[in-house]
Amino acid sequence: MSERPDRFGVDEIAERAEKAFAEAADLEVLEEARVRFIGRKGEITTLLRSIGSLPDEERPAFGDLVNDLRERILGLYERRKGALSDGAAEEDYFSGDPTLPGRRALSGGRHVLHQVLRDIKRIFFGMGYSLAEGPDVELDYYNFEALNFPADHPSRDTQDTFYINRDILLRTQTSPVQVRYMEKHKPPLRIIVPGRVYRNEAPDPSHASEFLQMEGLYVDRNVSLADLRNDVTYFVRAFFGSDAKVRFRPHFFPFTEPSAEADMSCFACRGSGCPICGKTGWIEIMGAGMVHPHVFRNAGYDPDAYTGFAFGLGLDRIAMLKYGIDDIRRLLSNDLRFLRQFWAETAGEVFE
Ligand code: PHE
Repeated sequence: MSERPDRFGVDEIAERAEKAFAEAADLEVLEEARVRFIGRKGEITTLLRSIGSLPDEERPAFGDLVNDLRERILGLYERRKGALSDGAAEEDYFSGDPTLPGRRALSGGRHVLHQVLRDIKRIFFGMGYSLAEGPDVELDYYNFEALNFPADHPSRDTQDTFYINRDILLRTQTSPVQVRYMEKHKPPLRIIVPGRVYRNEAPDPSHASEFLQMEGLYVDRNVSLADLRNDVTYFVRAFFGSDAKVRFRPHFFPFTEPSAEADMSCFACRGSGCPICGKTGWIEIMGAGMVHPHVFRNAGYDPDAYTGFAFGLGLDRIAMLKYGIDDIRRLLSNDLRFLRQFWAETAGEVFE
């Protein structure tokens, strides 16, 4: 072993090892090949021994080279071993072209309903509202009784209710939080209350048995219908565009007096009439009204000292209108093909 080892001989050994490993059809043959190359008496050991024939100054570099070679061959061996142990799929994977670009890991995005809620919250926070919440599983008292729906009164029929027992139910609206909040806070107050609500309805493109509402409540001295109109109009223009118009139609809710439904001008036809607005030029967006004196009394407020307005809007409906979604059930479907369409907007967003 007097002849000086050729540096490129290293590559040659690696190639032979790779070939031997690739040709090994089972783990036994592979093991023989391993011993031949990196076993204690294998080629690498023999090569290392030849270090004695080198001049001192070349020895460290040579040692490094041979150690690298050993690592390389060990890597090739492990790979092949993995492929042989884990079957054909694994083998395909490892024998794939390593220069191909990688596959991007799937990253999620904010659900379209949460995007809508985020945007709506920003608008109301800007007007001085703060956030309040209440339970999904609610007492009959807060969902109905305190809101001036008497027991056995037909007004309850407007909200097909999932009862858990006589006194406990799944809230059919976010309005119970009005009373819960007023019981704990003194006026003035200005809150929005987003949350899930439940109704025992047959599902169809515009009805689901659970959906999202957002309540608004503003109580102070001398709050008037004009204030309601102002805040609703401001919100609608900030959210849908500054040319949107808002109108109020008389309506009935047991817990507001007077009560109204608010419509916005159809954003699709701008009021001239189209299929989206049912040819009326207007789209209903929320229920609203002045807080009923009975509700104030139930919450411990003096109705002679304070007035207030409340409104409730369907977040699913707002999302459907804004993004042209044709079936409310898609919002609960977890169908990525649907959900992904809305992710571009939240790419890179930090979720709080
Ligand atoms: N809670 C009512 C509903 O679900 C909406 C509403 C809220 C109406 C507040 C008036 C005031 O239909």
